Amino acid sequence: MSASANALASPLHNEDLSFHWMPFTANRQFKQQPRIIARAEGMHYWNDRGEKLVDGLSGLFCTPAGHGRREIRDAVAAQLERLDYAPPFQFGTPGSFQLAREIAQLTPADIDRVFFVGSGSEAVESAIKIAIQYHRRRGDGQRLRVVGREKGYHGVNFAGWSVGGMVRNRDMFGLGMPGVSHLRHTHIAENRFQLGQGEHGADLADDLQRMVDLHGGDTIAACIVEPIAGSVGILPPPKGYLEKLRVICDKHGILLIFDEVITGFGRTGEAFAAQAFGVTPDIMTMAKAITNGNIPMAAVAVRNGVYDTIVDAVPGGIEFFHGYTWSAHPVACAAASATLKIFKDDELFARAKALTPKFLERLGALRKHAIVQDIRGYGLLGGIDLAPAEAAGARGFAVLTGLFNTGAVVRVTNDTIILAPPFIATEDDLDDLFGKIDAVLAKL
Ligand SMILES: Cc1ncc(COP(=O)(O)O)c(C=O)c1O
Repeated sequence: MSASANALASPLHNEDLSFHWMPFTANRQFKQQPRIIARAEGMHYWNDRGEKLVDGLSGLFCTPAGHGRREIRDAVAAQLERLDYAPPFQFGTPGSFQLAREIAQLTPADIDRVFFVGSGSEAVESAIKIAIQYHRRRGDGQRLRVVGREKGYHGVNFAGWSVGGMVRNRDMFGLGMPGVSHLRHTHIAENRFQLGQGEHGADLADDLQRMVDLHGGDTIAACIVEPIAGSVGILPPPKGYLEKLRVICDKHGILLIFDEVITGFGRTGEAFAAQAFGVTPDIMTMAKAITNGNIPMAAVAVRNGVYDTIVDAVPGGIEFFHGYTWSAHPVACAAASATLKIFKDDELFARAKALTPKFLERLGALRKHAIVQDIRGYGLLGGIDLAPAEAAGARGFAVLTGLFNTGAVVRVTNDTIILAPPFIATEDDLDDLFGKIDAVLAKL
């Protein structure tokens, strides 16, 4: 074990930072100038110097009910006392059955069967495996192709980054999963500064038809998209786009997968983006807000017919050779059920909807800054593209650090700022957040 000189000079810590290899982080830079978040409550964080920061990102899209919810903490503590862990293969624990039913009450149509996993990335891998196995069980085993979309983000595991379209997540890791094609993205100039769904770009969904024409519809297992592309910088679907994907999928027997890891659980003002846009997929992934960020958990929900096809095809024994040690972890299930109860009791999805006009108004007003090149928003999600400085990403990073130093936490992807405030935000909280963003942008 070799220590380094990266000790954190703060009143709260005297820790060597060298040992932790941080994810999606500029490690060297961070360890020179760390940004440590030490405490959280409600809409706010406190850094290790005790300074308060407003949370403009709901953790990482995962704490819409606000930090430090006592109800979740109590449910987790009670579950740990009752049953900390039991094997999820061939055994069950009571909480997962209850949670699956509660989720099925929120998902659209007959998407009623829920498979639990530990992260959004695992949910995507599981969804793709379910799609391939579904076709195989129907005697359609030649359907092995999967269609994703440029600029999509579906996590970091092999199938996920293969169908994803964020270049820097792809270019270092080899060839990825075979048989993957990508639709063109919908980040088009015609929709610049259009909040809500863009008027232009529905025809981009016809790319799926072109893939059918090229490869044969009967070779394609699934098409996976985020209903609103999140990590790339918030791209709401153009009007009519998702509807067209649905029609093409139906015509050719392709399963439509919505990756709702960010959009699930009220971000659009509806339980899922599927309901917000009135388009029902066959499979949906969800994660993040499912436990209000308290315990890692994610899920894949499928139409009853998908489940029945796989399960009924196997007369005895295990039907789906897939699962994780942390699938349906009892403590995560307890956290999730407590979270869903908060969403319901506090009517948080309706609250997100009610807050949306004010959020979008403040978001759109950032256009006054000369360096802002485009703004997009839907529900409580906002993306702001900045004109790049000499080095791509430098301006975005300046905003991230500038806001941290002046008391706000947001996400940046390259030179795009991403906002996703908690649903418990008040209008004053939004004024605080946007006031800080205004001040930082004015200085650039
Ligand atoms: C749409 C989408 N899918 C999948 C993932 C991966 O989730 P995780 O980081 O939990 O693996 C993310 C993460 O941001 C996401 O936004």
